[in-house]
Amino acid sequence: MKQKYLVTPALPYVNGAPHLGHLVENIQVNVFVRALKMAGEDVLYVCGADSHGTPIEINAKKAGISPEDFVQKWRQSFDDVFKRFHIDFDGGFGTTHSPLNEKHAGKIFAKLKEAGHIATRDVEQLYDPKTQRFLPDRLVLGTCPKCQAEDQYGDSCEKCGSTYRPTELINPKSALSGETPVLKSSKHYFFELNHYAEKLQEWTKKPGTVHEDVQHYLKKWFEDGLKDWDISRDGPYFGFLIPGETNKYFYVWLDAPIGYISLTENAAQKIGRSVEDYWQDPSTRIIHFIGKDIIYFHTLFWPAMLMAAGYTLPETIAVHGMLTVNGEKMSKSRGTFILATDFADNFDPQTLRYYLSCKLSPRLEDMDLSFEDFTNRVNSDLVNKIINLISRTVPLLHRNHQGQVSEVDPGAAEMIAVIQKRAAGIETLYRERDTAQAVRDIVTIADLANRYMQDAAPWDASKNDPTKAHQQLTTALWAGKVCIGLLKPILPIVAEQTEKILRLSEFTFQNVLEFLPTHSEINPYIRLFERIDIKKAQLMMESAKTNSTPAVPATVPPAKVQEASLIGIDDFMKIDLRAALVLEAKAVEGADKLISLTLDVGPLGKRHVFTALRPHVEPSEFSGKIVALVYNLSPRKMKFGMSEGMILAFGEEKPAPLFLNNATPGDRIR
Ligand code: MSP
Ligand code: ZN
Repeated sequence: MKQKYLVTPALPYVNGAPHLGHLVENIQVNVFVRALKMAGEDVLYVCGADSHGTPIEINAKKAGISPEDFVQKWRQSFDDVFKRFHIDFDGGFGTTHSPLNEKHAGKIFAKLKEAGHIATRDVEQLYDPKTQRFLPDRLVLGTCPKCQAEDQYGDSCEKCGSTYRPTELINPKSALSGETPVLKSSKHYFFELNHYAEKLQEWTKKPGTVHEDVQHYLKKWFEDGLKDWDISRDGPYFGFLIPGETNKYFYVWLDAPIGYISLTENAAQKIGRSVEDYWQDPSTRIIHFIGKDIIYFHTLFWPAMLMAAGYTLPETIAVHGMLTVNGEKMSKSRGTFILATDFADNFDPQTLRYYLSCKLSPRLEDMDLSFEDFTNRVNSDLVNKIINLISRTVPLLHRNHQGQVSEVDPGAAEMIAVIQKRAAGIETLYRERDTAQAVRDIVTIADLANRYMQDAAPWDASKNDPTKAHQQLTTALWAGKVCIGLLKPILPIVAEQTEKILRLSEFTFQNVLEFLPTHSEINPYIRLFERIDIKKAQLMMESAKTNSTPAVPATVPPAKVQEASLIGIDDFMKIDLRAALVLEAKAVEGADKLISLTLDVGPLGKRHVFTALRPHVEPSEFSGKIVALVYNLSPRKMKFGMSEGMILAFGEEKPAPLFLNNATPGDRIR
């Protein structure tokens, strides 16, 4: 009997571009889901953009666009990136900013209220009189009351580590306006979480709900007592209005997890099912994957809401650690803050799926992406060992044996038995989310088969008769098929191509160990994988250092007017042209052709480019102007620094920069 599953990653906050940290979780979940599906389970897999809250509201305003447009844009960029990494959700990559989600939020809130778990009381908070809004802790800056360090956030001091309330800061200032905030009172709604303390404790102690390390954190929280949770925010805010209110909204963390439900409803409808089939059927296994920074929300707030609403509780909250890059926290200045698109522009996305799978397990430890290790694992294990079993044997089978396989080598029975035994445990490892062990076991299988192939040397006529050689190649090819078949959840494209080469139907855990039918024909080898060049990783980090997405040279070399070959609209749309405001333009010492430009690309951040227009234009002519920037040009390292894009110019003899009149920085030009 098939088991019904509902599986989700956390809903990413769409306040900027997706980075490698987001991919850790989404690759982990995607591999898990693909493995369950490959095992024949009935899985619904949903995700969408977490689209509300103060940061989004403020950043949209800064960008001069509506919050709806702002989140739509970033939602799209997550959607695009996920597809590039072979991550595709049931029902598509949705959003929490939907009427369906508002309906569910209203419904759950009503249930909480009816059951008497909602209290209201007045709360005094810092208020910015200039921008006329209440200030969240992170938007108040001031002097630490404990150690007197200046410019500290309203919740904690980075110098001495103490935590306090924003009202305790000495000489507080609004981070938005610089104005001194005043105290102002306003009504807030609270969810009285302690009503559920006992039930929550019971649920979190159930084996399988959370990892024991998480139980440790929880123990502490339960001992300290669960505090009422403030679930309302005053406008201006981007979110859902609380029913009956005109300027109070649900706090984003209330409607974000409810997104799991509305996204389920959307996806379920597409396959003729209902939301109740998942959230009100106790036999559904609900599994949420999250990072360890959001444990509190998923092990206390969220299950308490579900309990109050009478919905099925998650069976497991699977928590993973955080990604570091080359041993460092992801940071822009160190070049370790790598955007997902930059990675995909430089490497086959399957390499990241493979590498992270080598690291992911049910444990909470942080993981490091070291580019040296990455290169080694992909080149030595994946390419030289695993892919080698296919790339070596298939061409030889074509050259010497008419492109047909034979029966396997009777002399290899022992090795075959060992492989079968090891391979049989892989499905369970995937189910237990121990992909690190699964990959280790698969590499062990490949090691055995490579050693066998090396000893047998089926390419050496002096060592073997043709029949023997044929059996040996067939045996090594079978081992390769087993490895790649078992890696299918991680390397979906390589697996599909291998199915084609071998003329097999889809690999499943059921059929992956089968021998190829004797005398069956196979197709010629097609290249499955490229080796990785570590230099590319270094360049990628260089360009990540300067800013988010990359790009370069600076000048538009005066193009010769010639007959252009035709391109399609798709080709044109690949060029991401953006309006950018010149913040600074200066001549470059030692380069008489160059002008260095610092550009503001609105919500996309700042960019630095060089342009070779110096012989024709004075730097001062750029000041305050809006230029047209090729935003997604690969960055180029020049003698004087990185150039991250190129600005457009026109004219042949005396080229001039193209200035835009009424564009806003960050606007897309098409
Ligand atoms: N929007 C909330 C989740 C709401 S769920 C109802 C959120 N969004 S997030 O974009 O900040 O993070 C999404 C997920 O990515 C989280 O599970 C988070 O832990 C994970 N990661 C973000 N950065 C990460 C790393 N550097 N490493 C590993 N995972 C990381 O939280
Ligand atoms: Zn301090």
